[in-house]
Amino acid sequence: MMRTRPLKVALLGCGVVGSEVARIMTTHADDLTQRIGAPVELAGVAVRRPSKVREGIDPALITTDATALLKRGDIDIAIEVIGGIEPARTLITTAFEQGISVVSANKALLAQDGAALHAAAEQAGLDLYYEAAVAGAIPLIRPLRESLAGDKINRVMGIVNGTTNFILDKMDSTGAGYQEALDEATALGYAEADPTADVEGYDAAAKAAILTGIAFHTRVRLDDVYREGMTEVSAADFASAKRMGCTIKLLAILERAADGESVTARVHPAMIPLSHPLASVREAYNAVFVEAEAAGRLMFYGPGAGGAPTASAVLGDLVAVARNKLAEATGPGESAYTQLPVSPMGDVVTRYHISLDVADKPGVLAQVATTFAEHGVSIDTVRQQGRPDGVGKEASLVVVTHRAADAALSGTVEALRKLDTVRGVASIMRVEGE
Ligand code: HSE
Repeated sequence: MMRTRPLKVALLGCGVVGSEVARIMTTHADDLTQRIGAPVELAGVAVRRPSKVREGIDPALITTDATALLKRGDIDIAIEVIGGIEPARTLITTAFEQGISVVSANKALLAQDGAALHAAAEQAGLDLYYEAAVAGAIPLIRPLRESLAGDKINRVMGIVNGTTNFILDKMDSTGAGYQEALDEATALGYAEADPTADVEGYDAAAKAAILTGIAFHTRVRLDDVYREGMTEVSAADFASAKRMGCTIKLLAILERAADGESVTARVHPAMIPLSHPLASVREAYNAVFVEAEAAGRLMFYGPGAGGAPTASAVLGDLVAVARNKLAEATGPGESAYTQLPVSPMGDVVTRYHISLDVADKPGVLAQVATTFAEHGVSIDTVRQQGRPDGVGKEASLVVVTHRAADAALSGTVEALRKLDTVRGVASIMRVEGE
């Protein structure tokens, strides 16, 4: 039975994503009504700059007082697309106090305060949905939380930042250096004027924290995620990767330990074989590869950012939350029953590609190999190349290891740096996806 009284929606924020949410709510109003079983009405739009012209939005709906909008007594659902910690956190808390369910796209807030916000929603008997917080349009939160709820996820590996994927893809396809590729990303609007959050991996780490908690039914904070940015990746690294049949991606990797007693969560650049499905993710696209016990390997792919793609995820949540409201029910909340601890990066086991500048003289290779052996790191391949500019004096040595603990590799590199014959460690990169 169709309800004629509309569910009233407060839109908090009306930037790139918010304006698309408002547009879709208006243009698809009839379909949304049919799918939900009641009309959803945009009842107010809280903004910072009221004078800005917002096409398609009734100026009478615009307010600068988001708190008053939430407190006026008739709002059923709030959509938070402001981003950042404050005022978003206070507004979401206010919404729960007012009996209002929330749809949010705020990865930074969810990664930092997800547990407290989930608790507030649960206590109030309300929904907190945030599909848009991770990988834009790609359905990921709901598949992990609902479709795979009967399975056991062991590993999630993904490209969850479009800006850095665009830069790395340019470096790979054109041979450009980091700065040149970043400049192109900025000129085309993929990178922000201050690209720190993207290129230093903070954005991906926030998404990794959210995904780790959901995938492994535990609680992970942003600080638990090991993070390395991609600003040091060079054209030489790509040349090395190509020689190994690999490319380089900024990956978020979330793993359940072999004994099942802990998890790890990390974000860093890594080499992956060209045959791996993530290697073919080009430009600013995102993709997440999930390995589950019964389902096997699944890949989720699509646009991870942008107004309309992100609004698609928000609207999906709006429909779900609206349906729950009509059914006087709530959807799945936080599931953190495993309480698995997050192990430090030193416990992560993977392979490494290490590029060294060494003296080109007898015994150097043996000395380097002994250093790896002393730290329990087994070498898979070694490639040495003399330098045209230093024939007989200096050489470039590339060592690829078998799987070893990150702590063992760090100890190896520290010892290598102390060798007189090692002039420098040009790069260290993890090798994943084999
Ligand atoms: N800045 C992000 C990216 C999009 O480049 O993927 C929003 O999370």
